[in-house]
Amino acid sequence: VEIRTERLVLRPIEVGDAAMVHEYRGDPSVVTYLTHPALDLDQTRERLTGAAASWSTAGRKRFNLTFAVVLGEIVIGDVHVWNTPEPFQPASADPAEVWVGYAFNPRFHGHGYATEAMRALVGWSLERGVERIYANFYAANTSSHALLKRLGFDDHQFYSAAQDESGKNLASCQMRYTSSHGL
Ligand SMILES: CC(C)(COP(=O)(O)OP(=O)(O)OC[C@H]1O[C@@H](n2cnc3c(N)ncnc32)[C@H](O)[C@@H]1OP(=O)(O)O)[C@@H](O)C(=O)NCCC(=O)NCCS
Repeated sequence: VEIRTERLVLRPIEVGDAAMVHEYRGDPSVVTYLTHPALDLDQTRERLTGAAASWSTAGRKRFNLTFAVVLGEIVIGDVHVWNTPEPFQPASADPAEVWVGYAFNPRFHGHGYATEAMRALVGWSLERGVERIYANFYAANTSSHALLKRLGFDDHQFYSAAQDESGKNLASCQMRYTSSHGL
């Protein structure tokens, strides 16, 4: 599986990407609004081992797919689409509803790469029969909110800090993209 955009290639994430992924998933400023703490290199390898193994679900009704976002030779971020239950994020009964997540290396923020990668992932998902896409973000994560708005997601639901199940005790929002939007 490979998704090509103007500037980027999205391909299944591999354990060999750990050093480059650790650069951002190990960075406290990147994980502020993620549901995991800053990862050390071993924890990053563990995470990627699981993510790479989950590629066995590709082509199934229930899947859990993490792509490395590659610019030239560099993994600048990762994007994730799933409809299997994940920690902190239950899946829907309807497999045509999926969730997405993303994180990028701050060295590559501000160039539209996340928008380009996520737009491609949304398009790829719709071509495979996905009808609704959900994304959760913490209310204070304004760059994530801006990204989702650029992609055509609509505000859907608001959760107070007291309702937060991730342990961060922060208010969060859920946004929704429906296939009728068109890209
Ligand atoms: C969320 C996140 C991916 C957004 O990254 P980003 O760099 O702001 O998003 P994009 O790559 O789409 O870039 C958009 C910015 O690039 C600018 N840009 C430059 N060239 C561009 C181009 N060709 N196309 C689009 N935008 C471009 C835009 O104007 C925008 O700048 P602004 O933020 O000053 O308005 C990033 O902040 C991140 O990884 N955060 C940490 C992890 C995280 O919180 N993940 C989400 C959890 S819900």
